[in-house]
Amino acid sequence: MDNIAVLLLVLLPLLLSFVVAVAARSDGGFGFQATLTHIDAGAGYTEAQLLSRAVRRSRSRVAALQSLAATAADAITTARILVQASEGEYLMSMAIGTPPRDYSAILDTGSDLIWTQCAPCMLCVDQPTPFFDPAKSPTYRKLSCSSPMCDALYYPSCYKDTCVYQYFYGDSASSAGVLANETFTFGTNGTRVTVPKVAFGCGSLNAGSLYNGSGMVGFGRGPLSLVSQLGVPRFSYCLTSFMSTVPSRLYFGVYATLNSSNTSDAGPVQSTPFIVNPALPTMYYLNMTGISVGGDLLPIDPSVFAINDDDGTGGVVIDSGATLTYLEQAAYDMLRQAFVALVGLPLVNATSPDDLDTCFKWPPPPRKIVTMPELVLHFEGAHMELPLENYMLIDGSTGNLCLAMAASDGGSIIGSFQHSNFHVLYDNENSFLSFVPAPCNLM
Ligand SMILES: *[C@@H]1O[C@H](CO)[C@@H](O)[C@H](O)[C@H]1NC(C)=O
Ligand SMILES: *[C@@H]1O[C@H](CO)[C@@H](O)[C@H](O)[C@H]1NC(C)=O
Ligand SMILES: *[C@@H]1O[C@H](CO)[C@@H](O)[C@H](O)[C@H]1NC(C)=O
Ligand SMILES: *[C@@H]1O[C@H](CO)[C@@H](O)[C@H](O)[C@H]1NC(C)=O
Ligand SMILES: *[C@@H]1O[C@H](CO)[C@@H](O)[C@H](O)[C@H]1NC(C)=O
Ligand SMILES: *[C@@H]1O[C@H](CO)[C@@H](O)[C@H](O)[C@H]1NC(C)=O
Ligand SMILES: *[C@@H]1O[C@H](CO)[C@@H](O)[C@H](O)[C@H]1NC(C)=O
Repeated sequence: MDNIAVLLLVLLPLLLSFVVAVAARSDGGFGFQATLTHIDAGAGYTEAQLLSRAVRRSRSRVAALQSLAATAADAITTARILVQASEGEYLMSMAIGTPPRDYSAILDTGSDLIWTQCAPCMLCVDQPTPFFDPAKSPTYRKLSCSSPMCDALYYPSCYKDTCVYQYFYGDSASSAGVLANETFTFGTNGTRVTVPKVAFGCGSLNAGSLYNGSGMVGFGRGPLSLVSQLGVPRFSYCLTSFMSTVPSRLYFGVYATLNSSNTSDAGPVQSTPFIVNPALPTMYYLNMTGISVGGDLLPIDPSVFAINDDDGTGGVVIDSGATLTYLEQAAYDMLRQAFVALVGLPLVNATSPDDLDTCFKWPPPPRKIVTMPELVLHFEGAHMELPLENYMLIDGSTGNLCLAMAASDGGSIIGSFQHSNFHVLYDNENSFLSFVPAPCNLM
């Protein structure tokens, strides 16, 4: 055991990854549906607490992206970077091993690896279910150092011909252990599927917080992610609104299809291509082309949203693992300026919660009705018209009316607050994102 710990401290040269092709697990009829539970659900937080917790996590997420970009800047010419994004916001129920043991994992569209904490643990963090014990599951198989999945790790190491992984998340959380194949079970009762030989990390050295999950499940674009391994590389989700207690839904494979809604205010299904950032190939970058406020396109230079070819910084990521949207400072400044000009309420100087600084004083009830400008995010070939509740929020602690967006430096993130009550489809086979407004609490 000590040998593994020592080994992990040895800095191994970066290995260039190979592209791993994984055959489809079925004839295309494969899929399942699952429930996504918000990590703060059921803990009895007030709306103000929920918001400030989400803002804090969003900030650590955006810091992670920025540190990723910085790391990538050094590493881009040699190999892939070492650091991954930080925790997500939603837990997905699944089961591991034979017989299946239920656990829930943090869904992360910003990373690839599937992992859980394994017994015996050298270092583990609290989790709500027992640690997975590979000795009690006959379908568990350690992977050798020459296995394609081992090559697909950003930072593989080898110990007695067993593939050892190390994963670092942006907020200093980490997991390390053995890479293995195991049988997984996914889906709610009616759509339950059992999938053999899913490569996952059996973590015996873990640090950081799992936010009441028992591991993570990567939904990124790389070969180790669940979406890549299951061979039907598409999934969709419909996130209920941030304050809702109704769980959200995940659809995988054949179940991931967008229905044009029949309700009058819902638009047609829209699609926009993903862009690959060679520095961060796991993440879902979009080609954002502009922002309209109150019907007018803001004069934002398109280069503000572009990925910087030299070092991989910049760009716009869609991310279910951040709540708020963070926009590159130059874009945010124009957005803020437009809101200040169009909203007939006094701007508040104090910033609470911290990152939100486009907040308006809204006198206490009986409140006067205020008109908010419409907000549209433009992407290549698609326009996302945000419902009011997707961009304005009432700060529970001050009663102020705040724009649910903040400024960043080094890249923009479209967070889950902005795409709740949209059914959002990630099609990795054809490399595009589709979305349509949908009542997610009714699905
Ligand atoms: C885990 O859940 C409990 C109860 O649901 C809650 O009190 C606690 O704060 C949660 N822990 C974390 C780290 O989110
Ligand atoms: C799903 O299965 C579990 C365990 O078999 C059962 O307790 C639960 O009621 C089922 N749920 C539905 C919606 O059928
Ligand atoms: C692990 O699973 C992969 C994908 O199904 C398979 O090709 C490989 O042979 C398996 N390795 C072991 C050691 O079971
Ligand atoms: C889409 O519509 C079909 C047919 O009405 C239905 O079976 C399916 O469940 C719907 N899918 C979603 C994700 O709503
Ligand atoms: C839309 O409404 C029509 C008529 O009520 C119905 O036949 C059709 O199935 C509906 N489509 C969807 C996607 O709900
Ligand atoms: C808000 O901040 C600006 C600049 O710091 C300052 O000039 C202004 O007086 C402040 N307004 C209030 C109401 O505090
Ligand atoms: C983004 O979309 C614009 C408008 O369609 C297009 O001109 C530009 O080439 C696209 N950028 C990338 C990186 O695909």
